[in-house]
Parts: sequence; structure tokens; C-alpha cells
Amino acid sequence: MGKILVTGGTGFIGSHTCVELLNEGYEIVVMDNLSNSKLESANRVQQLTNKIFKFYEVDMLDYDGMCKIFEENEIDAVIHFAGLKAVGESVQKPLEYYNNNIVGTINLLKVMNKYQCKTMIFSSSATVYGVDNRPPYTEDMQTSAINPYGYTKVMIEQILSDICVADSEWSVVSLRYFNPIGANKSGLIGEDPNGIPNNLVPYIAQVAIGKLEKLNIYGNDYDTPDGTGIRDYIHVVDLAKGHISALAYAKKHKGFEPINLGTGSGSSVLEVVASYEKACEKEIPKEFAPRRAGDLAVSYANAEKAKRLLNWEAKYNLDEMCADSWNFTVKNPNGL
Ligand code: NAD
Ligand code: UD1
Repeated sequence: MGKILVTGGTGFIGSHTCVELLNEGYEIVVMDNLSNSKLESANRVQQLTNKIFKFYEVDMLDYDGMCKIFEENEIDAVIHFAGLKAVGESVQKPLEYYNNNIVGTINLLKVMNKYQCKTMIFSSSATVYGVDNRPPYTEDMQTSAINPYGYTKVMIEQILSDICVADSEWSVVSLRYFNPIGANKSGLIGEDPNGIPNNLVPYIAQVAIGKLEKLNIYGNDYDTPDGTGIRDYIHVVDLAKGHISALAYAKKHKGFEPINLGTGSGSSVLEVVASYEKACEKEIPKEFAPRRAGDLAVSYANAEKAKRLLNWEAKYNLDEMCADSWNFTVKNPNGL
């Protein structure tokens, strides 16, 4: 059996997936340009699993660099995490986002074609459900976007679907992640964003550790039980395990298959804060603020397709997600 190439493998979700792949006995090769992660994450994955792998500091925009990886390794399948993911930044720098995420992915697909590697697990997002669908989201709903980041996911899914139509040897599973949080139980790897976090749980973590003063809760007038936004938070380890199941599925099937990875139920911002306060045993300073532009009131998955096709479902609850996030934060107050 050949190896699995993990693009974006030093990032948050990629590093957790590398751990699960190595624990399952897969051989992996990791590629990342380190634009939003640190090499230390690969060291930690090796320490945690007692296994080693080759790391390539290569950019997806570098076609020849990627060819070299395929020349030097027999790659069976690619798990494709690499991409830029900050929604607000994508509005400021659309060309950078379209170039990196879309041109980068097209480059990767060309290289895969060249080396006859036609199996991919792609990191998509619940953001492709746009603003017109009503949760729980099912995979057959129309996709759309309201910002460049979201459009990169919608467009890449279209490209992947098109190549599967054109060439029946291709097998692509597009995993639509809901809101991944938490960290490996060891506290060795976790989410380590650059600068001030945009997402809720990394922000709360920095408030809890004393680096940020208080949490702004964006909106308390939504049509939800407590007025705050509802999301489908999923433990990153559950999410990582979903990739192992998707890989097994992709090897046995052909064509393009979008699949949600969520728990199937949502929690409000206030519920997340309460759970985090339990984990860190202190009160999180917080204040209500206006709604954030582009936010939905409610988003959660219908998680049946993953159960049916992948035999996968999320196991961890919100308290475990917050406890593991806090454990990582305490052990790595300054990140990796
Ligand atoms: P991350 O930023 O931690 O990981 C992405 C990795 O890709 C980083 O290590 C970065 O350095 C690398 N990268 C970016 N551009 C690259 C390029 N041109 N060449 C090589 N490497 C490059 O983010 P993450 O949270 O682990 O997300 C992984 C994937 O999942 C992304 O595609 C993201 O859009 C998607 N996703 C994430 C979330 C989330 O909430 N974290 C939700 C839905 C989808
Ligand atoms: C955000 C992105 C989405 C992306 C997802 C995963 C936006 C508009 N959406 O989703 O496209 O797929 O991250 O990367 O950025 N909240 C606060 N205070 C904060 C931060 C967040 O109250 O400081 C609230 C938000 O209003 C929301 C919830 O917490 O109700 C979750 O926010 P966040 O973690 O940013 O995720 P999403 O908004 O779901």
C-alpha cells in the first residue's frame, strides 16, 4: 500500500488527522507552506504517535515542488486540508484567497492526474449551505456563498464534481465540516491561530488564560431560545476520525460524494461559554455586542449520511470539547 499525502498537515485539523492516520497504521507524507502553522506541530504528532514521516515545506502554487513529492513517494490518496480560511480576511484579499485556494487546488489536481493518483478527501465547509437553506442541512441542498472564502469551497466542490464526471477513475469525498473545536487529549496539539482569534472557542480560550480582556457575544436578539447564535460544534478528534472512514469509503467507491461532518445538534454561544467556564473553573468576562456581519442565527448538520455511508458518528460532547481546548491552552499558553 502506498502513502497518504496530507496537504495542510501541520494545521489544526490536519495535525489531528495525521495522528489518527498514523495510529491506524497508514504511512503519511505531510506538505504545508507553514503560512498558518508551525513545524513544531509535525514534531508533536511524531512524539505523540511514536511514528515518523516526511515533511515537505511546499506551496500548492508550486507545481514542480508537488511533482517532486509524488516522484519521491508512492502516493495512493490525498487528504487536502491546505487553504486559507479566515472569512473576514477573504473579503479584504479576495484575489489572494481565490489564487491560493482555487489555483492551488487545481495545481494539486493536475499533479495528481499526472501521477495517476485519483482519490481525494477534501476539506469543505458548512459555509457552502449559504443563507437560503434551513438547518438541519442535508447534502442534497443547493450550495452558495456570501464571501470569497465560501465561494472557494463552493467552486472547488464544483471542480471536483466535474472531474469525477469527466473521468470515472476519480473518487472524491468532500467533507463539509461544521464547527471543529477541542484538541487531542494529550494537550500536545491543538488550535493555534495567528493573532487575535476570529472564532468563538479560540477567543474564549484566550480570555480564559488572561490574554484577552473579555468575550464579545455577537448578538443576543436572534430567534433562538437564549437569543445567541447556534452552531454544531464538533470535537476535532471526532472530525479527524471521520477522515479515516472517508478514506476507506473513497477507496471502494468512485465519483463525487459530499458528506457532512457534524454532530447533528447545535449549542448556543451562551451554552459554549457556560461549558468553558466549567472546564477552566472561572468566569469568562463577557459582554453582548451587535451581530457580526454575515452570521447566521442557526447552523447544524443532518448527520445521517455520514452514519449511513461512512459508518461514522461524533462521540464527544461539548463539555469534553471545552475541557480538551482548555487543557491544550494551559499546556501551551503561547501556542506551539
Ligand atoms: P489551518 O489554517 O490550521 O490549516 C490549513 C493549513 O494549510 C495551514 O497549516 C497552512 O499553513 C496551510 N496552507 C495554506 N495555504 C497553503 C498553500 N498554498 N500551500 C501549502 N499549504 C498551505 O486550518 P484548519 O482549521 O486546520 O482547516 C483545514 C481545512 O479545513 C481548510 O481548508 C479550511 O478551510 C477547512 N475548514 C476549516 C474549518 C474550521 O473551522 N477550522 C471549518 C470548515 C472547513
Ligand atoms: C465561521 C465562519 C464560517 C466558517 C467557520 C469555520 C464567519 C462569518 N463565518 O463560522 O464561514 O466556515 O467559522 O471556520 O466568520 N461569536 C461570538 N464572539 C466571538 C466569536 C464568535 O459571539 O468573538 C459567535 C458567532 O456570532 C457565532 C458563534 O460564536 O454565533 C460561532 O462563531 P465562529 O466560531 O466564528 O464560527 P461561525 O460563525 O460558525
